[in-house]
Amino acid sequence: MGTDGITLVTGGSRGIGAATATLLTEHGRRVVVVDILPEPIPQCDAVVWPEPFDVANESAVVVGIAAIEKTHGPITGLVNAAGIFGKMHPVEKVRMDNWDREINIDLRGTFLVARSVGEHMAQRRQGAIVNVASVAGMTSGPIHAYTAAKAGVIQITQTLAAEWGRSGVRVNAVSPGFTRTAALEAGIASGALSNERLARNTAMNRLVEPAEVAQAIIWLLSPASSGVTGINLPVDAGFIAGSTWDAYGGLRHAPDKI
Ligand SMILES: NC(=O)c1ccc[n+]([C@@H]2O[C@H](COP(=O)([O-])OP(=O)(O)OC[C@H]3O[C@@H](n4cnc5c(N)ncnc54)[C@H](O)[C@@H]3O)[C@@H](O)[C@H]2O)c1
Repeated sequence: MGTDGITLVTGGSRGIGAATATLLTEHGRRVVVVDILPEPIPQCDAVVWPEPFDVANESAVVVGIAAIEKTHGPITGLVNAAGIFGKMHPVEKVRMDNWDREINIDLRGTFLVARSVGEHMAQRRQGAIVNVASVAGMTSGPIHAYTAAKAGVIQITQTLAAEWGRSGVRVNAVSPGFTRTAALEAGIASGALSNERLARNTAMNRLVEPAEVAQAIIWLLSPASSGVTGINLPVDAGFIAGSTWDAYGGLRHAPDKI
């Protein structure tokens, strides 16, 4: 992400994408948001692309990226935040239409947008891409297609970093832990997830805030991380570090405060 050009945020009308678009505009970046359900972000100067933009539709992505660059100028930063959560099921209950939908949006969609934008960045020898993966792609869980899709996102991040490293394009991923977005709150409200259980397994005993993921994304887009490419940065309040402690009796409480 240089000072010129625009940053494109997919899935930017809500959640982590919206928090990232908001923080980017606060840092003075020109931001264009695309979403399958485009809606303005409250108190944010980002431009919302008015047409519904489906990251999983190849021809729509190619045509849409060309139209956005024609209207708003070259994309020098890309945040792939569009995604859907996985349905929680025992393996024998996994429906293949749900499997296809999750893989199509979360993995294929991330690849399609990264490729369409990254090709142009490589030709211009400038750009930074951040893919939003998940701790679910680094561990196991009863969300069979989602974990596979997110592991795939971490993998393609490395591959694209290698592909475009000599062309001046950096490609990194962030892996949020359980992050307090409307999508997660809906899972809690439905009873499928429990706030207390999600927090309990993290070192910090809490959920992640969308703005905390946005801060990591902005660092990976910015020249401050100019030597970093191909990494996957967990932003998880210590979920990866803490989630195995249950096997040893659980995480320790903080000592009495002095
Ligand atoms: N919230 C969490 O706990 C969490 C944890 C780890 C990873 N993530 C990942 O972060 C990303 C954002 O999640 P969120 O929690 O902000 O969810 P969210 O539902 O709040 O936001 C996702 C956005 O993507 C859009 N979208 C969905 N399908 C699309 C498509 N086909 N094309 C374009 N846009 C589409 C939605 O309309 C929505 O605006 C997802 O990739 C998700 O898997 C979230």
